[in-house]
Amino acid sequence: MANRSPSIRIGDDAPGYDLDCFSIPKNYAQDLEKVFIPHGLIMDRIERLARDVLQDMGGQHIVALCVLKGAYKFFSDLLNAMETLNRNSDQASPITVDFIRVSSYCNDQSTGSVRVLGGADLSSLAGKNVLIVEDIVDTGRTMQALLPLVEQHGPRMVRVASLLVKRTPRSLGYTPDFSGFEIPDRYVVGYAFDYNDYFRDLSHVCTLRETAKDKYALAVQKL
Ligand code: IMP
Ligand code: MG
Repeated sequence: MANRSPSIRIGDDAPGYDLDCFSIPKNYAQDLEKVFIPHGLIMDRIERLARDVLQDMGGQHIVALCVLKGAYKFFSDLLNAMETLNRNSDQASPITVDFIRVSSYCNDQSTGSVRVLGGADLSSLAGKNVLIVEDIVDTGRTMQALLPLVEQHGPRMVRVASLLVKRTPRSLGYTPDFSGFEIPDRYVVGYAFDYNDYFRDLSHVCTLRETAKDKYALAVQKL
């Protein structure tokens, strides 16, 4: 796509920002290492992603499919930005929403098995322009499992927007159509990214201290 913007690449040795430069909830202050992507930068990047998405998919009914739980903030902010563009355009088409819940992580490790825990009746995707909205592509297993499920319902077009893509040797090689930032192989939390469900309620994307991984660890279960 000619007009699709490049992902912002964050280098392997990016130092991040001191926590003291930002407002961090007291309860998490001891658990975080650095602010890695400030909330304001996330919002600025989303504004451009919204334009990229509408240039590619607009003019037809878009069904935006949110991959819960991690994508809920990105989903909401991306759709708000798309709605703003539609309000100011001569050629707007409807955007409807659906939600699917998928889980693959225990502590900070991808378990390798992707579980669809419920949500959307995907038959409503037939003939539609489907935008799958994901928080992060790490190994790519989630997308590899989800895309065939969506495709089998006969959508007109399927695109994937992921806020983050991780550079990792564990990658299966999948790259989303729209990507906000490419990040090094570190575990990040905040802006709905979680560690065992904690840290979603943090507005910046941050890196975790090792001590926090123990503090919020779950007993490893067989999934
Ligand atoms: P994949 O299937 O390995 O691509 O993993 C994708 C899912 O793992 C994402 O949708 C996230 O929910 C989760 N995940 C991967 N890396 C991180 C991270 O650094 N922080 C929080 N969640 C992550
Ligand atoms: Mg996810």
